[in-house]
Amino acid sequence: MKPIKVGLLGLGTVGIGVVRIVEGNQEDLSSQVGSPIIIEKIAVNNCEKERDIYVDPAKLTENPWDVIRNPEIDVIVEVMGGVEETKAYILEALERGKHIVTANKDLMALYGSEILAKAQENQCDVFYEASVAGGIPIIRTLIEGFSSDRILKIMGIVNGTTNFILTKMSKEGASYDDVLEEAKRLGYAESDPTSDVEGIDAARKMTILGTLGFRTNVELDDVSVRGISQVTKEDIAYAKRLGYEMKLLGIADCEDEHISISVQPTMVRRNHPIASVNGVFNAVYVYGQAVGETMFYGAGAGSMPTATSVVSDLIAVIKNLKLGVNGLKAIVPYKVKKLKNDKQIKYKNFILLHVEDKAGVLAQITQAFAQFDVSLESVVQQPNEHNPFAEIIIVTHDVSKDSMNKVLEHFEGLSVIRTIKSVYRVEG
Ligand code: HSE
Repeated sequence: MKPIKVGLLGLGTVGIGVVRIVEGNQEDLSSQVGSPIIIEKIAVNNCEKERDIYVDPAKLTENPWDVIRNPEIDVIVEVMGGVEETKAYILEALERGKHIVTANKDLMALYGSEILAKAQENQCDVFYEASVAGGIPIIRTLIEGFSSDRILKIMGIVNGTTNFILTKMSKEGASYDDVLEEAKRLGYAESDPTSDVEGIDAARKMTILGTLGFRTNVELDDVSVRGISQVTKEDIAYAKRLGYEMKLLGIADCEDEHISISVQPTMVRRNHPIASVNGVFNAVYVYGQAVGETMFYGAGAGSMPTATSVVSDLIAVIKNLKLGVNGLKAIVPYKVKKLKNDKQIKYKNFILLHVEDKAGVLAQITQAFAQFDVSLESVVQQPNEHNPFAEIIIVTHDVSKDSMNKVLEHFEGLSVIRTIKSVYRVEG
């Protein structure tokens, strides 16, 4: 049987995992597809670098074009990261009729539609299971598992770094800065953690999940994003006292064909399944009109979990090759995108105010909520011996983002309110 030849772009954490799985599980993999799978060529930054794995030096090259332009290679596995240059490699590989497996969420979030269109033009597959939630097979699940249903809501903990930080803050009462330093020491957070902690990484992943879930072309600019860098240990303590866990949630929902996608620290009711996802783990909760609630849990990063998704994509490409159906299953979003406006986006809010402790203050506050048609679920005033002001904790019912913004704007001008300490979305 003619072997299938694979070109690997990148031999970092994930690339090493891919080599380990392809070599270690060779017998099982080749039995599934009916051909041996050979990693023919690997593009690396430095051929001389010491690695945790042995690879035949003759396979290494420092020039990715040697891989892209190698006529022997059937499938390119891209695990090198990067966007603009990597896009050029992928587009040329597709023009040469090579199929693509990529773990690159940045590339797919920014240029997914262009890449998928080019793939279709050239009857090629582009699979990207590892780009969202590493080892969780959520992309195939959305495309295939839910093909019969209408997805109404997707909620994801799709960033392990921030989930590690929030979990530690919650369990140990630690401050954001201290836990971030620990995350850096453990290698969970990068030295510049902006993309993770400001929610950008999660937003890119939600762009991909929203596109697949709602079958429309979601772009990064459609996602409203707030990160966790302003979350305090006091906020988390309040969340816990009220029966919530603080999570950085990506939330995509669809109502009457109108969608909204956001990423924000969210207070999730403790009995919701996603509230118990802790540490660096990821989870994606999907609510389908017919199926109801489902949830998928697992490792969102790491060498072997991510490589599992990459190699499963590789197997899918090879099975398609055998059947001669590559490129036929490309999911090109077909629905016209209709984004919700701020009047249509509705959810519950938690608000913590520091106010003057005197007669009539609560009346002014509740009056503002009534004026902008915001209905309240609970209002609690807490004595706080460390604080000369009264603390008022409010949880609203589902109210529009527009009304909430108007209330908060009104509060800015109310002299009895010293500080709007915190505002969080509430789920569950
Ligand atoms: N920085 C990501 C995370 C890695 O923390 O989950 C996987 O994309």
